[in-house]
Amino acid sequence: DGPGTPVAPTLAFTAVSKNLLDQITVPAGYTASLLYSLGDPINNTVPNWAGDGSETGASYTSRAGDHHDGMYYFGLSGTGTPSLTASERGILAMNHEAPNPFNTATGVNNLYVHASGATTTVVGGVATRTVPDECIKEINHHGVSVIEVNKTGANWSVNRNSTFNRRVTAATLMEISGPLRGNAAMFTKFSPGGTQTQGTVNNCANGHTPWGTYLTCEENWVGYFARAAGDNAKRTRAGEVASLNRYGSPENALSRLNWNTAGAGDEFQRWDTSVKGATAADDFRNVINQFGFVVEIDPYNPTAVPRKRTALGRFAHEGCWPGPVVAGRPVVFYMGDDNRGDYIYKFVSTALWDAADGTAAQTLGTDRMAIGSKYMDAGTLYVARFNADGSGTWLPLAGVAGALDTRIAADTAGATRMDRPEWGAVNPLTGEVYITLTNNNAAGRLATGTPTGTAALSDPANPRVYNDPKGATAQRGNPNGHIIRWRETGDLAAATTFQWDLYLFGARAASVDTNVNISGLVADNDFSSPDGLWFGRQGNAATGLLWIQTDDGAYTDVTNCMMLAAVPGTVGDGATRTVTGTAAGGETRVVTTKVGKAATTSNLRRFLVGCKECEITGIDSTPDGKTLFVNIQHPGEEKQATFNDPATFGSHWPGNQYLGNANARPRSSTIVITKNDGGVIGI
Ligand code: FEO
Ligand code: CA
Ligand code: CA
Ligand code: CA
Repeated sequence: DGPGTPVAPTLAFTAVSKNLLDQITVPAGYTASLLYSLGDPINNTVPNWAGDGSETGASYTSRAGDHHDGMYYFGLSGTGTPSLTASERGILAMNHEAPNPFNTATGVNNLYVHASGATTTVVGGVATRTVPDECIKEINHHGVSVIEVNKTGANWSVNRNSTFNRRVTAATLMEISGPLRGNAAMFTKFSPGGTQTQGTVNNCANGHTPWGTYLTCEENWVGYFARAAGDNAKRTRAGEVASLNRYGSPENALSRLNWNTAGAGDEFQRWDTSVKGATAADDFRNVINQFGFVVEIDPYNPTAVPRKRTALGRFAHEGCWPGPVVAGRPVVFYMGDDNRGDYIYKFVSTALWDAADGTAAQTLGTDRMAIGSKYMDAGTLYVARFNADGSGTWLPLAGVAGALDTRIAADTAGATRMDRPEWGAVNPLTGEVYITLTNNNAAGRLATGTPTGTAALSDPANPRVYNDPKGATAQRGNPNGHIIRWRETGDLAAATTFQWDLYLFGARAASVDTNVNISGLVADNDFSSPDGLWFGRQGNAATGLLWIQTDDGAYTDVTNCMMLAAVPGTVGDGATRTVTGTAAGGETRVVTTKVGKAATTSNLRRFLVGCKECEITGIDSTPDGKTLFVNIQHPGEEKQATFNDPATFGSHWPGNQYLGNANARPRSSTIVITKNDGGVIGI
């Protein structure tokens, strides 16, 4: 059963029951261990995390960041060279997406990284930051970790002595690469020629390349930038104000953590994207144009400067997943824009794949970023239209405008508005592409051209309208989400047409409405709000299993977020059916669409349930399929803490489960899952 074996594996584990425990639950016969938590040192220059928020801001350039998210395992041979098969030594590259909640007006916050939360003074309705080092700590807990991990016996640990270890933060030097490099819209005080920037934020999902690099994706970056009242009148680029508004940066907006209020230095003022000086080289008016990209990092070279690959477009990039790689064909990446009503994209390289570049990447000294420039700086960006008859069309977006104001170019092209595109995954057995559409509400379905002006839209690719049983009534959106998939024409990743269907719908098993629980979910496999998505790696007996992770708020009265394993079938294996619902304005919506075959406990089964208030996001395995790395994001972030009173914490994980501390502060963490008999996971 080598790579590409067209036989799907069989699920063989006991389903985990839905639960609200403050711990990680996995099937009998499996063990989940703790590997890497918020604040853990990545080298020997800083002490262990104290557990009380006392660390300095600077120390976080040598510590795990917060909100662990997408990740990828890069193998290392016994002598420390790149290896596609090594399963006992490797490098984990992982995203640190976000901070815990912070109210920009009142300063109320849940930032457990500080001793008593963030310190603020409210001035004129703005929670002004009065301890600059707290902001430095937050800037440094964003970004990416690159850490070497080693298996000794049955146990995995972080090798703090490894020279591969590295933190990329929201302050790290980066090159602007591709069509927007040197463009006037990129000129800033930091880089008057528009060729460089600093930092990456809100790194959500990820991707990798066939030349051995990591892709980290900037998702909800727009909220990190303040914009002053009256700023619109100072904007001179054609269409600039429309673009700022389309991306969610209206004038008179505060920044997510008010970093720009912490001091006069550029390290704080670059989070204010207002026009202040005479020219773009005098201020940071254009810094907002330098975010929203796929960023390439070489995990095997800690001195390589990360590059923002602007040819892949600027939007709320969830992740970036490579299509099947074939010599002599373009390299293709699939991407989603996670915003209510936004789009699915793909990038097709101009350069054709040369297998020698994959071979070269297996040598330590290779300049992988130069290979990246060859395949990622020139090509065509497409946006998806899902037609009512089950066909689809990739619509090309042109040039610099398509790279900078991608959403506006896609609006003009006539793309299909989607229910928040999250992760994608490409089936290694078939080349079919899956993307989660996590959820949507009535407001998110509204658009120009809505039939009644107030009713929520539905269409064949986003067909359901119904209320969230947990939430407010009359939402009439898609609170539980679904998963779309497609097969490219001729099985060519660069094709401009495809066939699609709707693989799976989230729902409560208890739902009696057949327009809601369309997939027929039952107690052992019901879920809500699919987000993380991953196919098992090629080359082991679990190749072709699909893993689904949830980031949910609609079913959390019954269960914490979870991960399921699936044997997904193929496009067209289900039926054509009608979906009926009543939209928010009272209008009856009826659409006909194609759905995948019904779920059963043989083809979909719950594998893991997380701790309180966490999201399960980020997954990879070793090439042998015997070690699974999973990220547990933001346990306990919601319940407002009194920082010196552990009884008020929303979660005590992982300290309660792994470190003998029932009063611990909650920490985002990476866990390692192994089968007790040492076998391949899931089968
Ligand atoms: Fe960061 Fe769309 O999830
Ligand atoms: Ca996500
Ligand atoms: Ca999500
Ligand atoms: Ca999250």
